[in-house]
Formats: sequence, C-alpha cells, structure tokens
Amino acid sequence: MNQLKVFAPATVANVACGFDVLGLALDYPGDEALVTKTNKNDIVITACHNAENLPLAADKNVAGVAVKALLDKLGSDQGFEIELTKGVKPGSGIGSSAASSAAAVVAVNELLGTPFTKKELVKFAMEGERCATGVAHADNVAPSICGGFTLVRSYEPLDIIKIDSPKELWATVIHPQLEVKTRDARRVLKGGIDLSKAITQWGNVGGLVAGLYSEDYDLIGRSLVDVVIEPIRSILIPGYEKVKRATIEAGALGCSISGSGPSIFGLSKGEETANKVKAAMGDVYTQYGVDFEIHVSQVNSEGAKVIG
Ligand code: HSE
Repeated sequence: MNQLKVFAPATVANVACGFDVLGLALDYPGDEALVTKTNKNDIVITACHNAENLPLAADKNVAGVAVKALLDKLGSDQGFEIELTKGVKPGSGIGSSAASSAAAVVAVNELLGTPFTKKELVKFAMEGERCATGVAHADNVAPSICGGFTLVRSYEPLDIIKIDSPKELWATVIHPQLEVKTRDARRVLKGGIDLSKAITQWGNVGGLVAGLYSEDYDLIGRSLVDVVIEPIRSILIPGYEKVKRATIEAGALGCSISGSGPSIFGLSKGEETANKVKAAMGDVYTQYGVDFEIHVSQVNSEGAKVIG
C-alpha cells in the first residue's frame, strides 16, 4: 500500500469549562489528507485545497510538522507527498489546524504499518498545533484522532482519556464568517486566575465528566459554565450574548465558545432540540447581517478514518 486518504473531523475544544483539556469530535465538516509514499526522503505538501493562503513549506504547514515529528520518533527518513483538502475553515474555532494534522499523521501511520496507537499519534499532531498557535495543546487533536469526548488528564506525561457520552447528545455549532486566530485569542488571556474562579471551574469539569458518564443531561447542562475564559474571549465575538441567550431559550443544555472562537456551540438532548437551536442561532446573525455556517452533529465516536 503506497497511498491512502484519511478524513479527520472538526472538533469543539474546551467545551465551556475545560480550557485546553476537554474536546469533542463532530461528524462533519472535516479535512482530508491524501498521502503517498515516495522514493525520496522528504515531506512535500503538494496542495492545500480550499485554503490556498496556508503555507505549503513542510516545516511551516501543520500537517508537514506533525508528520515530521512522527518520522523523527521512528528515526525514519521515508518520504511522503501530502495533498490536503480543507473542509474546516482556518480561524473558525472548530479545530482547523488540528483536522489537517490529525488526518496526515493517521494516514502516515497506516502507510507505515501502524507503529503507533491512535492515542500515541496525538503527541505528533500536537506539534502541528505548536506550529499554528505557539502552544502544543491537545484538546482539538485528541478528539479529531480518537473520536468522542476526550479529556487531557495530563500534558506531562501526556494522558488522554476517552470519555463515554450519551447517544442523544447533539452539538449545534454556528460559525459567524469572521476569522479569529487562536494565537491572538490566547494572547488576550491573563496569566493567572482567582482561586474562587478555579474552584467553580474544576467543579464544573468534574460535573461535566460525571454527567457524560451517567447520562445525566441536567448535570451536563449545569456544568457547561466557563467563568475563566468566556468572559474575556466573548468580547471578540459580535452578538455573543444574544446568541447564547437564544440558544438556551431554544432548549439547549448549555452554550459557550467553541475552541478559541468565533464559533459558538450549544449542546442539546436530541436532534429536534439541536435543530431548534440551529434556527435560533441563525436568526440572531441574520438580524445582525452577519454571514454564518451552522453544523448540527452527534458526537463522532470514531474520529479520523481511512476513506480511500
Ligand atoms: N484550547 C484551545 C484554546 C483550543 O482555547 O486556545 C483552540 O481551538
């Protein structure tokens, strides 16, 4: 086998209370990587369809950087060509760089005979995040590769936990057509946090994880609260408070910023409510005259997968 194509899904990172530690995978959109083994010993990014302004130099492209990290770990100088097709818009807040890194490392791993488990691949894809944002965070790449809801219990050493979630949990994600660079959205965060806010936040992380396992939708809803990051970053998103209010009024369990924004997500019990949330979110931005895209998806339990 010399060539294959992998799809890696978009993701909602942070999930309100879990800055840099919680994330979930969506069914769509996603990025595709068509990866081919070559007779050379370098990594070549041949194209990045739908995002022609992203760098193609392998040491600046997130997929190239992630694959290089994998090959370095193996001590391999096998060459690869990588053709990317972006389904996830850069700067959307649903893990655009993560989807490219995830698709590329999963494809290369398969072509090399699966030397690594999916969880082990997260470490390499994180190097793509370091390249894109300055920080090697794992809360997008872990769910994009592994699927489902994931918790980064520890970064040093890296410890990724896949969390069961109820079947009827749906996400609605609206992307107002603005670009927020994660690098910039991280710069606006202050270095430290209040102890009282930390207590609220870690109580909610524990509550959310317990709610997911016990399929307690009310507990999930009570726990979707972010007192640390949302108050600062929401200022970067026009209409944020109105969208949030409309989302909750439409029946969502909770609502917050997806990743570093500007996308906003709501979680709901059942597809019907998720679609009511879709209509309510869309109405707000229609009134504002802001273009948007909306995705409604269950939690994607599979993550990155070979599609050709
Ligand atoms: N945890 C990261 C952040 C996710 O919020 O900066 C970026 O998508």
